Amino acid sequence: MNAPLKGLAMQAPSYVKNARLIAWVAEMAALCKPEAIHWCDGSTEEYDRLCQLMVDAGTLKKLNPVKRPNSYLASSDPSDVARVEDRTFICSAKKEDAGPTNNWMDPAEMRATLQPLFDGCMKGRTMYVVPFSMGPLGSPIAHIGIELSDSPYVAVNMKIMTRMGKAVYDVLGDDGEFVPCVHTVGAPLAAGQKDVAWPCNKTKYIVHYPETREIWSYGSGYGGNALLGKKCFALRIASNMGRDEGWLAEHMLILGVTNPEGKKYHVAAAFPSACGKTNFAMLIPPAGFDGWKVTTIGDDIAWIKPSADGKLYAINPEAGYFGVAPGTNMQTNPNCMASLDRDVIFTNVALTDDGDVWWEGMGEAPAHAIDWQGKDWTPAIAKETGAKAAHPNARFTVAATNNPALDEAWDDPKGVAIDAFIFGGRRSTTVPLVTEARDWVEGVYMAATMGSETTAAAAGQQGVVRRDPFAMLPFAGYNMSDYFQHWLDLGKKLAASGAKLPKIYTTNWFRKGADGKFVWPGYGENMRVLKWMIDRIEGKAQGNDHVFGVSPRYEDLNWTGLNFSAEQFDTVTSIDKAAWMAELRLHTELFEQLAHHLPKELPATKAAIEQRLAA
Ligand code: OXD
Ligand code: MN
Repeated sequence: MNAPLKGLAMQAPSYVKNARLIAWVAEMAALCKPEAIHWCDGSTEEYDRLCQLMVDAGTLKKLNPVKRPNSYLASSDPSDVARVEDRTFICSAKKEDAGPTNNWMDPAEMRATLQPLFDGCMKGRTMYVVPFSMGPLGSPIAHIGIELSDSPYVAVNMKIMTRMGKAVYDVLGDDGEFVPCVHTVGAPLAAGQKDVAWPCNKTKYIVHYPETREIWSYGSGYGGNALLGKKCFALRIASNMGRDEGWLAEHMLILGVTNPEGKKYHVAAAFPSACGKTNFAMLIPPAGFDGWKVTTIGDDIAWIKPSADGKLYAINPEAGYFGVAPGTNMQTNPNCMASLDRDVIFTNVALTDDGDVWWEGMGEAPAHAIDWQGKDWTPAIAKETGAKAAHPNARFTVAATNNPALDEAWDDPKGVAIDAFIFGGRRSTTVPLVTEARDWVEGVYMAATMGSETTAAAAGQQGVVRRDPFAMLPFAGYNMSDYFQHWLDLGKKLAASGAKLPKIYTTNWFRKGADGKFVWPGYGENMRVLKWMIDRIEGKAQGNDHVFGVSPRYEDLNWTGLNFSAEQFDTVTSIDKAAWMAELRLHTELFEQLAHHLPKELPATKAAIEQRLAA
């Protein structure tokens, strides 16, 4: 992987005119000491060349071009398979500005720690200069970043995940602003040393300096640790920008939903990692929903800015999907499966004997495959040892333009006006299928206190309930209580301008029955809940006003085409008093943890819920 490309220059190409950028690249090159610098232009020719370089180095395998045209498989080091939350730092000048939910280190101390690690970290490798725009090029909601990385895997993934390439420099101009992002796998090569297929380092640091808007990432080549436009910039740094400038950077999909009358609404929905954002964003309405259409604007991140008309406009800052493969199939997400027909980089799925890919939950298992760690895999081996063919956090990287359900406005620089927010956790008990907040503050309370069972998207224990406020626990780049305040302030400001605020909902698709199985069928059937929300916005649907909001009764949902009994509905919607008293104790614990700057509206909302529950 370290073979330098021909024609590399330390010199910036003539079209790069930004003096600050040129100086910064020179400074970082002096520190990281790469063997060469490659200024990415974002062309297809460059993408193909880098992919071929990685095929030659053993990092990528080219898949069967008949079965999966223009697609590749990467298999990571087994120690580098997910975001590392315990190695992720918000290094604000003051500890309280990072807040109790983030790891913090004094910025000077962190710089002193990173300095020797970055010194010479790219020896024997090429430094790729990756210019990217988060959001449509030139959109007033978009921002530019430049990632320096010694990983060609990062460069090609960034081409798919962002608007990456030469055109970014036209927007940047001579003196435009950009977020500097430095990334290294932390595996310098000595002269003549043979590279490995997936270089990385067991020491990892994913570091953000919010005041100076910088990102430094060391030691991992995987996903959000390394593709710095995504979680590091578009959420952790952008949430700081949004707080300072009056907008929101959120862990949300954005979808368009058109009803049979042709009226279109836009919904932004926050779910924790690996809880079905991509599936919901690409939902196909089931039988019985003739004339309804769902289209995708984004599947993971939303940047949302208030506009002069009093509405909140959202863009998807990304240009592709880095989605979880296991569990994706023709039933759970046909649009996603169609998106994956070609032009995909798969990471950590299994390789079939005919040069295609397979993962758990994709469909019938192959008789034999090579698993994500390069070992033989058969259904019999899986049965005997429990070995997974694909890692549970195996991913696909694919351009949004491959999605057959892509919304026509997905690339609109103006963004789309948001009519509703959804916050949804993964909870096998307690939390009902859907609840509407009666007002903005109640909605912020619901989002702030959301709990969810952990998934394989982050390293660490899985399946434990943790509070994941706004699905932003790993991604809020500043103090969580200040972030709640920011949401409350925005609501107040919009209301004061006479604007109609978006409605706020919480959902839980994941409640289980006595047999331990999910009761709600989910996926396309979530349309039933989405329709209720749209009907509520239109003032057409009824619901049951209860202790913490409004939920549909059985008769309030459209059941055409689905056999789902009132008893089953009760299993996914019932509100158990004892369970809610226990739940509220967890909200108290959260509020104790977040006491510094906690907006008083939140404990007040809790007290009102407690009173209603006790009544
Ligand atoms: C993601 C995540 O990759 O949330 O989107 O982990
Ligand atoms: Mn995510």
